[in-house]
Order: sequence, then C-alpha cells, then structure tokens
Amino acid sequence: MNDKKKLIAANWKMNGDLAANEALLHAILAGIGDAACDLALAVPAPYLAQVQALTAGTVLALAAQDVSQHEAGAYTGEVSAAMLRDFGVRYTLVGHSERRQYHGETDQVVAQKAQRALAAGLTPIVCVGETLQEREAGQTEAVVRRQLAAVIQRNGHCISEVALAYEPVWAIGTGHTASPAQAQAVHAVLRAQLRAASAQAGRIRLLYGGSLNAANAAPLLAQPDIDGGLVGGASLKAPDFLAIIAAAHGAAVIASGVGKE
Ligand code: PGA
Repeated sequence: MNDKKKLIAANWKMNGDLAANEALLHAILAGIGDAACDLALAVPAPYLAQVQALTAGTVLALAAQDVSQHEAGAYTGEVSAAMLRDFGVRYTLVGHSERRQYHGETDQVVAQKAQRALAAGLTPIVCVGETLQEREAGQTEAVVRRQLAAVIQRNGHCISEVALAYEPVWAIGTGHTASPAQAQAVHAVLRAQLRAASAQAGRIRLLYGGSLNAANAAPLLAQPDIDGGLVGGASLKAPDFLAIIAAAHGAAVIASGVGKE
C-alpha cells in the first residue's frame, strides 16, 4: 500500500513575469483549500524572492529548477544551494532532461548537484527518463537505472532524503503521456533499485512527470509506486494545476481506504 503523502511539484520552466506570477499564485491559493498532499513550485531563479513573499505561511513550498554542482566561487551565472536556502527554498529539481539535453549535464554532474542540495538541507528532486529512441530500442530500464545509480553511488548514505521524478523524455511537453502501467513499471524498477541501496527506500517519493494534466492525473497517481507528479505546462494554468492536486487528493483517499465500507 502506498501511504506516503503525495508530492505535487510545479515546474514553471522559463515562463512567467512579475504580474503573471502574482495572478497565478492568487488563483492557486484561492482554490487550494486543505491540500492533502505536499505542494512545491519550481520557479525561475529571479522570481524566488517574489514567490517566497507571496507563498509565505501557505501550503506552497518553494523549489528551484536547478542548482550548481559547486559550493561557491568563480562560477559566473551559477546559483548555489546555500543561496537557494537563503530564499527559503525547500526542493530543487536536479538533472531535468532539458538540463541534460541542452546543457550537457552528465550523470556525474547530476549526482554532484544532488549532493550539494542535500548538504544544504534541500530535497533534490532527481529527474530520470529515457528518450523515445531509447525506449524503442528496449533500453528504458537500463537508462533510468544508470541515471539513478550515479546518484546512489555519490549519495548512498543519505539517498532516502531525495525525491525522484521519472520523466520519459518523449512525454515532456508533447501531449504523449506514459500509460499508468508503463509509468508504474518503471517506478517499480526504480523502487527496487532504491530498496537495494537503502533500508529506508520505502519513504522516498517517486514522482511521474511528462504531460501530466487534469484528465490523466488520477489513474497515474493511483499507481502503487507513484507518489506524486512533476507538472510542467499544466502548472501554468491554475484550474489545471488545482485539478491535478484534487486528483492526488483522491488517490490518497483511495490508498488510505477512507470511505470504504
Ligand atoms: P510537461 O513538463 O508537464 O509540460 O510535459 C514536465 C516537466 O518537464 O517537468
């Protein structure tokens, strides 16, 4: 049974401006009610202070979209884990496929970033996932296992402090979602790998991401090894994001057996 509190994380990517962020946050906060899951917003770095101020004292936790693998120093353009902490950041995405693809982040760099985040007291949401080509070549399992292995190797002693997001690259921003069975199958592989690495693997939250939306969230979030979602496009529209949160709530109620005779 899956009795962990679900985590729904928004990934705004490189979208938004001061006025639009404020309107979106007001709409989300107005509709959120008593959220039964943990909620985080991964916002562009320049808006961390704005979102920190607008979400203070609310159920919305602050997240970053990336973190430097370095601690401090002559790394122009980089943002350190300690700086994120300074702004009340609780989570940071690490190794999003867009970072791996467009910024050349290797498994080793991703593992180092996760380590920096952990050292600063942030929860890294480590992203893994295969491309369409890799899936069609039957390499899905090998790819995600390799990506996770690097993170375990470097952070084995505190691996239970991370969160993981399975995001098939072919599903990100494409409107193609993994079926609940496809996603669950990969999540089960990741869970088994985590169990082999840590006695506390059961508490690690495994999120699904990739064209998650109001219509497909409920069956995905009801899978036994899916503990939440990482939401890109749909997180920019308050009604859609709220519907995904409601679906997570529904999945939590079903998992806990509340309402069953
Ligand atoms: P998407 O993005 O929901 O727009 O597919 C998810 C992500 O990249 O985190």
